[in-house]
Amino acid sequence: MTMSASNQAPVQKKRLSQREAILQDPRFRGIEPFASKVWLASPTMHGEEQRWVDEAIQTNWVSTVGANIDAIERQIAEYIGCKYAVALSAGTAALHLATKLAGEKLYGQARPNEGTLQGKRVFCSDCTFDASINPVAYEDGEAVFIDTEPDTWNMSPEALEKAFELYPDTRLIIVAHLYGTPGKMEEIKDIADRHGALIVEDAAESLGAKYKLRGKWVETGNLGGFNCISFNGNKIVTGSSGGMFLTNSLEDANKVRKWSTQSRENAPWYQHEEIGYNYRMSNIIAGVVRGQLPYLDEHIAQKKAIYERYKAGLSDLPVQMNPFDPQKSIPNYWLSCMILDPDVMCPTVRGEQEALYVHESGRSCPTEILAAIAAFNAEGRPIWKPMHMQPIYRTHAFVTVEGNGRGRSNAYIAGSGADVGADIFHRGLCLPSDNKMTPEQQDVVIEIIHRCFD
Ligand SMILES: Cc1ncc(COP(=O)(O)O)c(C=O)c1O
Repeated sequence: MTMSASNQAPVQKKRLSQREAILQDPRFRGIEPFASKVWLASPTMHGEEQRWVDEAIQTNWVSTVGANIDAIERQIAEYIGCKYAVALSAGTAALHLATKLAGEKLYGQARPNEGTLQGKRVFCSDCTFDASINPVAYEDGEAVFIDTEPDTWNMSPEALEKAFELYPDTRLIIVAHLYGTPGKMEEIKDIADRHGALIVEDAAESLGAKYKLRGKWVETGNLGGFNCISFNGNKIVTGSSGGMFLTNSLEDANKVRKWSTQSRENAPWYQHEEIGYNYRMSNIIAGVVRGQLPYLDEHIAQKKAIYERYKAGLSDLPVQMNPFDPQKSIPNYWLSCMILDPDVMCPTVRGEQEALYVHESGRSCPTEILAAIAAFNAEGRPIWKPMHMQPIYRTHAFVTVEGNGRGRSNAYIAGSGADVGADIFHRGLCLPSDNKMTPEQQDVVIEIIHRCFD
């Protein structure tokens, strides 16, 4: 006996995970997931790191003094063309001490329980990682975020000029070079000079990138007054962690070195007249960096080849690569990114922690593309969410080329004004950029991106 359809219990259809749904989507038929993950940017060891780490252990120089630290400080200063390099535990530590030092120069030594920037505004890159600008808060200052320009995705000199109109007392600028592409430093330095402001340069992502300053090629990391690089595991060369403060001032190098080793005064006992930190790099970490430095240029060449392969492979789609000015800059191509043309964006929204999109034929969006490449075992990432959009900094000022960037919409008037950073975040994404990715793997990523637009 058969049951009538109306008597049958409703069949519960199992909801597919996003990955399962993508893998079953006919648009992606014929593509196999990568057997081993294709990373965004992972460390690449060459073997020489082992030699210097072993030597540190065998000679018992494993603490924060030793031949590896001396060697990499010398080598980096030489490479960058600056006089002094101070090896620290992280790029974040370098940025903290650089920002504190700039604050002390401007406003004097602070009491032990107060930061050097107390009550002071600092103009900051907006499209960057928060480690660039958190030191302003560590030092009790207030970050004012400067919108981004579309030519290099870095701080807009025009918006910076507007910020000086709004807050003319400001004396410090923190500027980062996003994804290894130098920002418009000549214009930014001119503006800083005109307003008597100091510059902290965050070259964490851009080691090896060059910028033509007043007709002369200069390495990033030698363009501000207080300069920082990072050896974080995802950077162009790594120590597994680590960073450096770079300067042409012996006095500044000595001050940062002192602060980084608990600010000991010259006395037989522990004597302190300044707040100190435990921020110095260990000789073991320095051994890893020492083994990596000979490969910096090779890594840059590999990253450049990846950027160019994406550029060619995606050239038939309505997308652009992260831009740079070839007359004024040579990026290190740390991350390859793409941005979709505005008219091919499918409907998509991002909440605080989740994102949704609706696929439409011929269109796509970063959320869809990132989900698709993740389903096939490759790692991309959204564009760094601008600082002015971060919950923690939502009450901080934000300045665009039009002036104050907050509260610009009006319930009774259409339009809301430009916000370049928010737009790049909305339409852009970071592509798998690992220097160990093979051309064949990259071609599969390119193919997946094409299929997203089917
Ligand atoms: C722009 C930028 N600034 C600062 C940092 C912090 O460097 P670290 O991780 O070495 O502390 C990073 C990355 O980690 C970064 O990408």
